[in-house]
Amino acid sequence: MDYFKFKNNILYCEGIQVKKLAKKYGTPLFVYSQKTILEHFFKLSEAFSQIKPLICYSVKANSNLSILKLLVRAGAGLDIVSGGELYRAKQINCPFEKIVYASVGKTEEEIKKAVREGIFMFNVESRSELERIEKIAKKIGKRVQVSLRLNPDVESKTHKYITTGRKETKFGVDKKTAKEIISNTKRYKNVIIAGIHLHIGSQITESSPFVSALLKTKKFLDGIPKNNDLQFLNIGGGLGIVYNQEKPQTAKMFAKNIVPLLKAIGLKIILEPGRFIAGNAGILVTKVLYNKESYDKRFIVVDAAMNDFIRPSLYDAYHKIMPLDKRTNKSLRTKKLADIVGPVCESGDFLGKKRKITISEGGYLAVFGAGAYGVSMSSNYNSRRRAPEVLVKGKRSYQIRKRESYQDLIKQERVI
Ligand code: LLP
Repeated sequence: MDYFKFKNNILYCEGIQVKKLAKKYGTPLFVYSQKTILEHFFKLSEAFSQIKPLICYSVKANSNLSILKLLVRAGAGLDIVSGGELYRAKQINCPFEKIVYASVGKTEEEIKKAVREGIFMFNVESRSELERIEKIAKKIGKRVQVSLRLNPDVESKTHKYITTGRKETKFGVDKKTAKEIISNTKRYKNVIIAGIHLHIGSQITESSPFVSALLKTKKFLDGIPKNNDLQFLNIGGGLGIVYNQEKPQTAKMFAKNIVPLLKAIGLKIILEPGRFIAGNAGILVTKVLYNKESYDKRFIVVDAAMNDFIRPSLYDAYHKIMPLDKRTNKSLRTKKLADIVGPVCESGDFLGKKRKITISEGGYLAVFGAGAYGVSMSSNYNSRRRAPEVLVKGKRSYQIRKRESYQDLIKQERVI
């Protein structure tokens, strides 16, 4: 569900023609729909309203300050994974008691900052990290809450790079270690083990992996000493969305399938959705530079590239691509499928392969599903400037990030 719709073959974002935005702000350009972002957030909170979870939006999915502010204003907390994300959270005045902090490799400096600011809790990923937090909290003279990230060893049925709950992955601790830690909480004076954290992967389209992880967690909780301080269960993010032919569960179905289990576990619930909220709320708009054929291949060369949007190159991810204006130029008609490629000097630089698209040079294409893990994973590779971002609210558009300048590209560098 989103507010990118064709009217008379012309693509609109809410009440604005996307082509007008492309002309005004230039391309490549990310366009987001505010209404879509908010509706996704409210869908999730309504689906889980019986148990009133704390929903901590996962900053890594799309970390633009305006988007964070929008969600925090709507009642969300934030799930962060670095000092940089903590800094962003602070810039938009996210209440610290709504910030959870995961990551297998938090540095001492990052932990210190987060302890001083008084975040809600750390999601701890190893025994060594727990000891480090204990030491730092003691020095600062604070008691901090942590959730222990449990690696439940479940298959999440998604791309292997974004599977995080299998035993061979680096995330969380095994059940034996978790039990030992929780059985010996007295050893920790400055750390309260207040919760269990799970995050089994991303773009998961079925409930079954979550159900297996929760069943395993329940079994685990049944087997640990009852005199523990556990109050929270953070079930992470991971809810999948439609990119192509997927039939992901709705928030309602997801809730229906897991709420009984969550109730049986009886802890306060935290969710960390990223993609579900931002994924289909954004598109990448790009201009066609050249049509070209070489041997038996047809290419549409566009001005966006893997540095702007790396999901196709990195995960072989499918993203729907369509002209902003579907009234095709008849003279271009051909049955030959085209690869949509960028200017970067790698054969891995593509946005889509074997597509049935014909479009004139100078025309615009939209890459759908670019709201999550788009700009947040972009880079300056090939010394390309990062693209601007525009947020649409009804008939108005706001530039929420400017295109980088050439000076931006070199501002940290020195010639010696
Ligand atoms: N919580 C934790 C601890 C996470 O590691 C993640 C994502 C989330 C929540 C949010 O997951 P989501 O609801 O967005 O699935 N770059 C990849 C996705 C990487 C996800 C990393 N962790 C992609 O473009 O598919």
